[in-house]
Amino acid sequence: MLFDVHAHYDDGRFDEDRDIILSSMPENNVGHIINIGYNLKSSMDSIALAEKYPFMYAAVGFHPSDAHLMTDEDFDRIKEMAKHPKVVAIGEIGLDYYYGKETEEIQREAFARQIALAKEVNLPFQVHNRDSTRDCVEILKGSDMGERRGMMHCFSESKETAKKILDLGMKISIGGVLTFKNNVKTVEVVKYVPLSDLMIETDCPYLAPVPYRGKRNSSLYIHAVAEKIAELKGMDVDEVIAVTEKNAKDFFEID
Ligand code: NI
Repeated sequence: MLFDVHAHYDDGRFDEDRDIILSSMPENNVGHIINIGYNLKSSMDSIALAEKYPFMYAAVGFHPSDAHLMTDEDFDRIKEMAKHPKVVAIGEIGLDYYYGKETEEIQREAFARQIALAKEVNLPFQVHNRDSTRDCVEILKGSDMGERRGMMHCFSESKETAKKILDLGMKISIGGVLTFKNNVKTVEVVKYVPLSDLMIETDCPYLAPVPYRGKRNSSLYIHAVAEKIAELKGMDVDEVIAVTEKNAKDFFEID
């Protein structure tokens, strides 16, 4: 079944039909969803969703755009939350210089601190990176990531950056941008990266894949990402779904 490794169902855009849409996942071949926190509240909301739906899991952490809001007390709360049995990752963490020009230094500190936290609590981490690839790779290279390591969410950088990420023992997650017209870069990345290092995601409600582009995204559309990967790799879509599911289960240690 399809495994969506990165979703935001606590988003207000799901307020009207959250339960209806999530309850319909199993019958639509969506087997697992990880809901990702971006600050204290959304981390708590992610855990609440994971407690309510057996097929949902949570990641907890501070997104780079919220990094300047993270107090020491918040950090300790995140550490506590990481012990919850359904928390399977620290995230999303990382750097975003597109939105956060004035908080770059704070972002780098919060990123490094949360990578160290992931190692301490023995969880993998999910990385957000926008317009900050050089610093992002540098921080990852300079960090003791521990055994579990991390994955790049919604990867949209070059093949060369993908190689650097794989060399660090990390995984790459592909989202709906792969299906966007003229996206040569991500097409090259998918052809280059072995299927054993790939996972798939929606980042919903954002970034709906073609032919749903512009709509509110949900895990019901993630099959379009699997289909595009299958087409690019010349594989059967069922194999892509099965392998990416196994990759995610192994990486996040979910049975
Ligand atoms: Ni996200």
